Amino acid sequence: MACVIVVGSQWGDEGKGKVVDLLTERVDGIVRFQGGNNAGHTLVVGGEKFILHLIPSGVLHQNKTCFVGNGVVVDPAVLLGEIDRLAARGVKVGPERLRISERAHLIMPYHAALDLAREKAKGGGAIGTTGRGIGPCYEDKAARVGVRAVDLTEPELLRSKIEANVAEKNFWLANYFHEEPLSAQAIYEQYLGYAKRLAPYISDVSLELERVLAGGGSLLFEGAQGTHLDIDHGTYPYVTSSNPVAGSACCGAGVGVTRLNSVLGLVKAYTTRVGGGPFPTELLDENGRWMQEKGAEFGSTTGRPRRCGWLDGVVVRQAVRLSGITGLCITKLDVLTGLDKLYFCVGYRLPDGGTLEALPASLNKLGQCQPIYEEFEGWREDITGARRYDDLPASCRAYLERLAQFVGAPLTLVSVGPDREATIVLQDVFAA
Ligand code: IMP
Repeated sequence: MACVIVVGSQWGDEGKGKVVDLLTERVDGIVRFQGGNNAGHTLVVGGEKFILHLIPSGVLHQNKTCFVGNGVVVDPAVLLGEIDRLAARGVKVGPERLRISERAHLIMPYHAALDLAREKAKGGGAIGTTGRGIGPCYEDKAARVGVRAVDLTEPELLRSKIEANVAEKNFWLANYFHEEPLSAQAIYEQYLGYAKRLAPYISDVSLELERVLAGGGSLLFEGAQGTHLDIDHGTYPYVTSSNPVAGSACCGAGVGVTRLNSVLGLVKAYTTRVGGGPFPTELLDENGRWMQEKGAEFGSTTGRPRRCGWLDGVVVRQAVRLSGITGLCITKLDVLTGLDKLYFCVGYRLPDGGTLEALPASLNKLGQCQPIYEEFEGWREDITGARRYDDLPASCRAYLERLAQFVGAPLTLVSVGPDREATIVLQDVFAA
């Protein structure tokens, strides 16, 4: 029995999809515990590309069960669309292997409408959300007016919740944001339709996970977004509305903290960020463009170009602390091949000459931080065929070893290309 959590150590898009897909062979179930369809996990299997937003990335393995925990916000239209698209490509995802927590909150049309209206009203100060209604859905959860998956099985309760919510949301949409109001009846009918299809998938996920563990099974918890998008620990307010740190796997799936064994921290070999917010090592020069082009750094959810920059050790070290990361998985290392020099950020310098070893809570202060870099030699050899650590050029290994030493966590996996096979395994993730 093992419970392994996979989390992003930066601002998301670290390549969690591939790694979860790879590790799925070793587990019985894959669990999502936070976020929603703001995530976009790209998998390449046998040269075929799949992008998943809501269903756990392990779904391509036919004999595994995928769980969507109570901490996830579920847009039923997106979920059903994903089930249908997978079916069209020969991947059957029936209720026997996809379980949705009855306690998961549902994204409603008014959530997306409010998300977009708020962003528009903020103008230049917009967060740059994915516009999927994630924040407003979590707001309703905290306000205790949210619609939960279980409500799909009780039509009268569903109707009354939708009516009450639409009355309030329309007030804001029409009077404050000057947007079109929505129809409660139309939403009710739409969600009744979803209820018919989704009812067989809805279950007590916490209980089902307990059964897997009690039977000696293993689970993989698939984090979405990244540590520095965490609503508590990230670069607030330029964050998402959930907790991508590893600790949230417990409350977002309904498993006890003593059940969890290890945390794999995903680290892209450079840094990217989508949307607004501070980014100390951001590059607006040809090196940044290199990363963007060679790394195909365009959002898999919104298609927006990702901002790119040097690898920030301070960012990763903070993630190791916040999530108790026990091993590092380095991704997209091959993207850096061909750069003459690499720079690795080991601290920040402030205008008064002082230095910082961690990201400050104040965004003003973070905005003033100048990265302190260490310089590394690049490499020119093609590394995509490397399957053992020693196959990597010495300069590449020096870069990775400095990262591991600086952040205080060992190298566990190194990904050198998008395919499952393009991976170097240094440690057994499940051995901890
Ligand atoms: P929201 O999660 O849609 O509310 O967006 C809030 C912030 O999180 C924005 O900067 C988004 O670009 C960012 N974000 C949300 N999901 C992801 C993701 O999966 N990868 C990277 N950034 C994300």
